[in-house]
Amino acid sequence: MLIPFEEEYKKKYYSLIDQIFDSNFWSDGKMLALFEEKFSEYANLNSVALSNGGTALLSIFHYLNVKNYEVIIPTNTFYATSVAAKMAGADIVYADCNRGDLCISLEDIKKKVNSNTKAVVVVHIGGHIAFEIEEIALFCRQNKIYLVEDCAHSHGATFLKKAAGHWGFAGAYSFYATKTLPLGEGGMVVTKDQDFVDWLKIYRNYGKKIVNGKVSYPMKDGFNYRMSEFTAALGVVQLERLPKILDWKRMLADKYDKIFSNRVHFPPGMESGFYKYIVFDYSLKHETGKVFSYSDFGHAIDGTDKQKSVSFPNSDWISEHHKCPPIYLGWEHAEKTTDELRYLLIGKQ
Ligand SMILES: Cc1ncc(COP(=O)(O)O)c(C=O)c1O
Repeated sequence: MLIPFEEEYKKKYYSLIDQIFDSNFWSDGKMLALFEEKFSEYANLNSVALSNGGTALLSIFHYLNVKNYEVIIPTNTFYATSVAAKMAGADIVYADCNRGDLCISLEDIKKKVNSNTKAVVVVHIGGHIAFEIEEIALFCRQNKIYLVEDCAHSHGATFLKKAAGHWGFAGAYSFYATKTLPLGEGGMVVTKDQDFVDWLKIYRNYGKKIVNGKVSYPMKDGFNYRMSEFTAALGVVQLERLPKILDWKRMLADKYDKIFSNRVHFPPGMESGFYKYIVFDYSLKHETGKVFSYSDFGHAIDGTDKQKSVSFPNSDWISEHHKCPPIYLGWEHAEKTTDELRYLLIGKQ
């Protein structure tokens, strides 16, 4: 099936591409500034675009200088979260998740934290915000530990009307091809910290600073983490299209809510962006990949499960018990009635 992208948005995209050709800037131009401005409005946070979600995470860990410190990461995430912290020199300590929201458990964070813990990473798994985010943020503040949010799944999600990235020092979004707001490749750091914003703009450009045409290199370990003008132009259009994508997903989720009682149940104030729709203990006739399963778990990939006697009972349970009925934009059966979908997915009238 083709990835849907309606004619009206193609036309908008082509007109922005024309503007890029007319401007003669294929990088570091007006589209990047416009995408960052629009994303800042969307998230209500400062936004700096980078080449992908992994480099967005890496930049946060570099800035926080996690080298030789411990960073607590949920084992139930994509390995990118761990690799980014490792590349910045951190020692990874894995934590378990909750069964209710699939996100890192505060109870396990409390067991893993010590005087060498520099940061805790919350990954908002599946499209909603971690249910314990307020309590985790408070715990981190009280213990002077940085909170980092991995927002790769959480476009369109809000909790208490705040977008992902509001609780931590910074958040990292991914625009990989399968995400709710896909650009093929791309990432965005969101933060309230203006010094970090200034640092990022140098970091993503080989440590180069340009003021009134005068070039200097104040940073020695920057690299090329830039986003091109063409990707940024698609970002502008996709952000405009995001409400339509979310309406479509929420329309399907409303039907699924009537079919599946054993599922993730959101607390008051939570709006999921439905990167995935997550159910437990159903046998499904149509499904997409699980959010994550045992072979994706950081401790399983690192092999630390064999070296130490670590146990992550809730992550193991999630891996075994959850499934995801399709909720990707354009799924061919989405317009069917609830009864038809029930029959299609679980074979019951
Ligand atoms: C939870 C999580 N974090 C980070 C990433 C990395 O993003 P990217 O592929 O844009 O580098 C992904 C997936 O792509 C992800 O699922």
